[in-house]
Amino acid sequence: MNLKEALIQKLPAKLAPFAPKAFDSFGNIAVMEIPKELNKKKKLIGETLISMNPRFETVCSIESDHKGKFRVQKVKVIAGKKQTIATYKEYGCTFLIPLGKVFFSPRLSGERTRIAGLIQPGEIVGAWFSGVGPYPIIFSKHSKMQSAVAIELNPFGHKYAKKNAELNKVKNVEFVKGDVKKVYKKFKQKFDRIAMPLPHTGYQFLKEAFYCAKPGAVIHMYEIIHKGDYSLPESQIMGEAKKAKRRVEIIYKNKVREFSPTKEQVVFDILVLD
Ligand SMILES: C[S@@+](CC[C@H](N)C(=O)[O-])C[C@H]1O[C@@H](n2cnc3c(N)ncnc32)[C@H](O)[C@@H]1O
Repeated sequence: MNLKEALIQKLPAKLAPFAPKAFDSFGNIAVMEIPKELNKKKKLIGETLISMNPRFETVCSIESDHKGKFRVQKVKVIAGKKQTIATYKEYGCTFLIPLGKVFFSPRLSGERTRIAGLIQPGEIVGAWFSGVGPYPIIFSKHSKMQSAVAIELNPFGHKYAKKNAELNKVKNVEFVKGDVKKVYKKFKQKFDRIAMPLPHTGYQFLKEAFYCAKPGAVIHMYEIIHKGDYSLPESQIMGEAKKAKRRVEIIYKNKVREFSPTKEQVVFDILVLD
């Protein structure tokens, strides 16, 4: 029986059609969107989920969209232990995630492992917009990169990225707290690869990425598009490359995840030829 089926049995008939079935798992904490019609039933929903999945100690409801430059989503504990720091495992690594204070999405795990698999021995990697550190930590544990520089503006993200590096015994990542636009000049043509997981505004950092990319480097840029229409970010990439006097080729583009019924998150791998 799934969560929706279990809830249908517990809710009054007029509320049953609103019963949710989806939730995101952050290890010991589940996070879910609850329709406003079920506002008064949050505790029941959370407790039902815990009874069906005892690995969850806590269930939180999502209380806002991802907001502001830190892309943070508010959450509230609705059942179980009163805690919001999740212990989440991905690809053999452990991450502490202060929910409600940082951005983190388990749905991007496929991208992290894909890029880790592309990293060549000895590479120096820019892990920009690094949050609590999932990209650079997974790269460090699952590639033979020489080192990485992780840059994050949110002080909570930076603090937990350093904690997570320690937890996973990662020693070859430098964590920089700051704005990519303010610190990038220190890294002129330094990187063999740059991961830029900042959809919505990532293209605004292409100038900085081209400045920091070695000839032969690959930049992984993310964007939200109307389903199947890659044309706008493609023209932004080509326009910024021209301004930066870098010759580039888009060597891979693909859907990463569903964003809404009409939009999707996609990735572009941009080879900087010279
Ligand atoms: C979409 S999140 C990705 C976080 C992380 N890489 C992950 O996948 O969990 C984007 C991150 O970029 C950070 N950020 C936004 N603008 C920034 C800037 N100008 N410089 C550095 N970090 C920035 C935000 O605080 C946020 O943590």
